[in-house]
Amino acid sequence: MLRRKKGENEDMEKVAIYPGSFDPITYGHIDIIERALEIFDKVIVAIAHNAEKRSLFTVEERLEMVRTIFKDTPNAITDSFKGLLVDYVAKTNAKVILRGLRATSDFEYEFHMASMNRSLNTHLDTLFMMTSKDYFFVSSRTIKEVASLGGAVEGLVPDLVVRRLKEKFKLPVAKKKQIGWDD
Ligand code: PNS
Repeated sequence: MLRRKKGENEDMEKVAIYPGSFDPITYGHIDIIERALEIFDKVIVAIAHNAEKRSLFTVEERLEMVRTIFKDTPNAITDSFKGLLVDYVAKTNAKVILRGLRATSDFEYEFHMASMNRSLNTHLDTLFMMTSKDYFFVSSRTIKEVASLGGAVEGLVPDLVVRRLKEKFKLPVAKKKQIGWDD
C-alpha cells in the first residue's frame, strides 16, 4: 500500500466535504463544522439537491442561511450539488467526506452510505465526528416538527434559522407541508 512519504505534499490543502440536507442547519451541524475547521484547512458544506426528500426550505434558502452564518469564516465554503456525492467530491480537491454521528442509531445508515461511497471511489474516505453532547438530540427533522407546532427551538439553531422557521410557519401554504418531511 502506498503511503504518503514525509515531506511529500505537505503543502497540500487539507479539504473536507461536509454533505447533507441541512434543512435547516442546526447547532449540531455548526459544532461539527467548527471542530472540523481545527483539523482541516477548508470545509466545504455541500447542500444536496435531493428530489426524493421533501424539504421545508429550498436549496437556495438553505444556501443563504449557511452562507450568512459562516460569512466571517472564510475557510467554511458553502455550495450545493446535484447527483452523486462522489462525483461532486471528484470536482474538488477534497479526499475526505465528513459526517456527524449522534447516536448508534445513526451508524447503520452512515455505514451503508460510507461503504457505498467507498465502493464508488476507493480514494475517498468518510470521517465521522461524534456530535457534542449538547446536541445529541438535535436533528433538522425534530427542529422542524417542534417549530411547526410553536415550540421553542432557540439555542438549538441560530437566531437566523429561528426567524426563517417562524416566517415559514406563518404562511398557511407552508403549514400544509407539516406531514411527511424527511430529516
Ligand atoms: O443530511 P442527510 O439528509 O443525512 O444527507 C444525506 C446526503 C445528502 C449526504 C446523501 O443523501 C447523499 O450523499 N446524497 C447524494 C446522492 C448520493 O451520492 N447517493 C449515494 C450515497 S449512498
